[in-house]
Amino acid sequence: MDSLDSIREAVLGQIAAAQDADALEAVRVSVLGRNGQLTALLKGLGALTQDERKVRGAALNVLKTEIETALGGAKAKHEGAALDKRLAQERIDVTLPVKADSDGRIHPISQTIDELIGIFGEMGFTVAEGPHIEDDFYNFTALNIPPEHPARQEHDTFYLTPRAADGSRKVLRTHTSPVQIRTMQSQKPPLRIIVPGRTFRSDHDATHSPMFHQVEGLVIDKNIHMGHLKGCLIEFCRTFFEIDDLPVRFRPSYFPFTEPSAEVDIGCSREGGGLKIGAGADWLEILGSGMVHPKVLANCGLDPAEYQGFAFGMGIERIAMLKYGIPDLRTFYESDLRWLRHYGFASLDVPSLITGAR
Ligand code: PHE
Repeated sequence: MDSLDSIREAVLGQIAAAQDADALEAVRVSVLGRNGQLTALLKGLGALTQDERKVRGAALNVLKTEIETALGGAKAKHEGAALDKRLAQERIDVTLPVKADSDGRIHPISQTIDELIGIFGEMGFTVAEGPHIEDDFYNFTALNIPPEHPARQEHDTFYLTPRAADGSRKVLRTHTSPVQIRTMQSQKPPLRIIVPGRTFRSDHDATHSPMFHQVEGLVIDKNIHMGHLKGCLIEFCRTFFEIDDLPVRFRPSYFPFTEPSAEVDIGCSREGGGLKIGAGADWLEILGSGMVHPKVLANCGLDPAEYQGFAFGMGIERIAMLKYGIPDLRTFYESDLRWLRHYGFASLDVPSLITGAR
C-alpha cells in the first residue's frame, strides 16, 4: 500500500507539472499505457491469492480512477488555455472607431430615406417593397387608371417589349403606388406601410430625371377617415422640416386611385428671390394624397363598406432639395465627389426625431 501512495504522489505531481497537452499525454502513457506503471501492477494481480487480489485490486482501481480524473481535469485546463490564447491572437476589435478623416459620405437620397423611415417608423409604419419592372395591371389598371389616362402614353412611360398574350407590356414603374396593390393583396388589414423606392418616367430636363425616387404611404383599417390623413401628414411635414408651427394646407386635387384627393402644400416665403420654408405668404406643393378609392379596395378584394384608408406619395429628391438647399435635381446622379462631400452626410450622422439630421 505504501508503494501505491508514493506512486499516487509522483503521478499527481507529474500531471500538475505538465506544461501542455503533449507533456500530459506522456504522463498518461507512462502510467496507463500498455507498458505503463499502473498497467503492470494491474497485470500483476493474477499472481496473487483471491483475498489478496480483492484488497489490492480495489486499491489499484481507486488509484486508477483518481489518476484518470486528474488527467481529465488537467486536459480541460490545457485546452481552455490554448483556446484563450488563440482567441487573444485572433481578436478583431469590432468597436474600432471609423477613421475621423474618412472621406465616405452618405448620399442625400439615402439620408432622406433613413429620415423618412425614422419618422414614419415612430408612427407605426413598416417598410414595404415591390419590383421596378411592373405589370401594367399593378402600375395602372388596379389603381383605377383608365386606358386614356396621359400616364399611360408612350411619351411618359418606359414600356418593355415583347407584349404578353393579352397585349399588355411590362413597364418600369412610374410611381410607387403599385406597391399599395401588392400589399393589400398579400397582407390583411390593418396596414400601415411606407414604400421608399426608385421610379421611372421618360422625362428629362432641369427639374425631371428619367429615374427618381418616391415614397408611398398606405394606411388601411376600419374607420379610417380624412382626419387621420391630415393628422399624419401635418405631423410628418413638421417633423421632417423641423418647424413645429409649419403651415400645412390641403388643396383639392385629382388622382384616379384616391377619392377625395388632396395636394399638400407647406408654407413658405419667396421674398427677396430666395425660398424660405416656414411662415410666409406663399405655398409650396410637396406631396399628393387622398382616401383610397373604393374601386381600388375592391380590386384588392377588400370590402369598401368594411375598410377605408388613405394613401400618399411624394418625391424624395424634391423634399431633400427643399430641406438641404440643393438647387439642381440633375446633380443627384452625377456622382461628383465634390458635390457629395458638400451635400453628403457623415456616416455616423444618425437621424433621429430629437436631433433631426445633424
Ligand atoms: N402616385 C402619385 C404620383 O406619382 C402620388 C400619390 C400617391 C397620390 C398616393 C395620391 C396617393 O403622382
